[in-house]
Amino acid sequence: MDFSKAKLEAETDRLQLKLSALGWSREACLMIAPLTLQINLLKKEKNAIILAHSYQTPDIIYGVADFTGDSYALSLQASKTSADTIIFAGVRFMAQTAKILNPHKRVFLPSLDAGCSLADGITADDVRMLKRKHPGVPTVCYINTSAEVKAECDVCCTSANAERIIRALPEREIIFVPDAFMAKNLEAKTGKRLISWNATCIVHSGFDRRKIQQLRRFFPSLAVLAHSECPPEVAQEADMVGGTADMEKYVSSSNSESFLLLTECGLSDRLRAEFPSKRFVGSCSLCPYMKRNSLPLILRLLEDEPAKNEISIDADVARRARLCLERMFELSQDG
Ligand code: 13P
Ligand code: SF4
Repeated sequence: MDFSKAKLEAETDRLQLKLSALGWSREACLMIAPLTLQINLLKKEKNAIILAHSYQTPDIIYGVADFTGDSYALSLQASKTSADTIIFAGVRFMAQTAKILNPHKRVFLPSLDAGCSLADGITADDVRMLKRKHPGVPTVCYINTSAEVKAECDVCCTSANAERIIRALPEREIIFVPDAFMAKNLEAKTGKRLISWNATCIVHSGFDRRKIQQLRRFFPSLAVLAHSECPPEVAQEADMVGGTADMEKYVSSSNSESFLLLTECGLSDRLRAEFPSKRFVGSCSLCPYMKRNSLPLILRLLEDEPAKNEISIDADVARRARLCLERMFELSQDG
């Protein structure tokens, strides 16, 4: 597809508005302009939308995404869309969630390698074994799980509503899978006993409390925000523990000058673009799965609609997993 010089210049101006805060040069924006123009045209033609998780690269978020957010906001958005096709710029379990909520729409994942160490860390058989071992105990699964695992569980949760959902259940003992660290952090917050699994996130498990202590010496007013997937000893050092949307809210309303976000660096990039006057310190931790998606892969999806990238889920699994997600919306009062 060829675009006029004027069109390319206008698209470059649009991209530069956000991307320059992240160090993108005009030349770099001009280079991706033909891609973003083609993707946005094809989206309209096909009545498709792109949902992007906050960990995606800024060219996806500011170039082509129709909606960006945390896994909870994206699942709500997926449940409300009138588009015929959803392209999920995120990881597989997120695209599966969109498909479960939209059985009659087409859902695509740009990269086949966009997995997740938490979702890959537990199977439906593992959950059935836990339920046999603890009969009558309710089962909560983190949204970072496969459709098959959700189908075995009573209620789903995300980092944005996990505490609320654990508190809403009357039982004091709950099976919570698969994140061992998140379970410990939730036990500390709710005082309930959570029977968990041994999976962890390869990004968040790597954060170290000594790094926080070192940085606090250099930046005395530093606000430390930890994702609930961080190890408990890291969460204990933080000023706030929660999900990516909680971090965004905290940064937008805080008077602190500097922030350390203990999460994937896509969120720091995004907040740097949204709040250019605030300072984000610390090194970057990439999720190799989230970063598999790219503008060229998204364009190929829209052009060719490859069958291997389309999400399909067994009808009975999808029906049972949907009940688990609907219970989450009910308990989060968004149902
Ligand atoms: P959020 O639900 O906070 O967006 O987190 C998703 C995720 O994969 C964190 O690693
Ligand atoms: Fe999964 Fe961790 Fe990547 Fe989130 S950051 S998608 S939990 S591996």
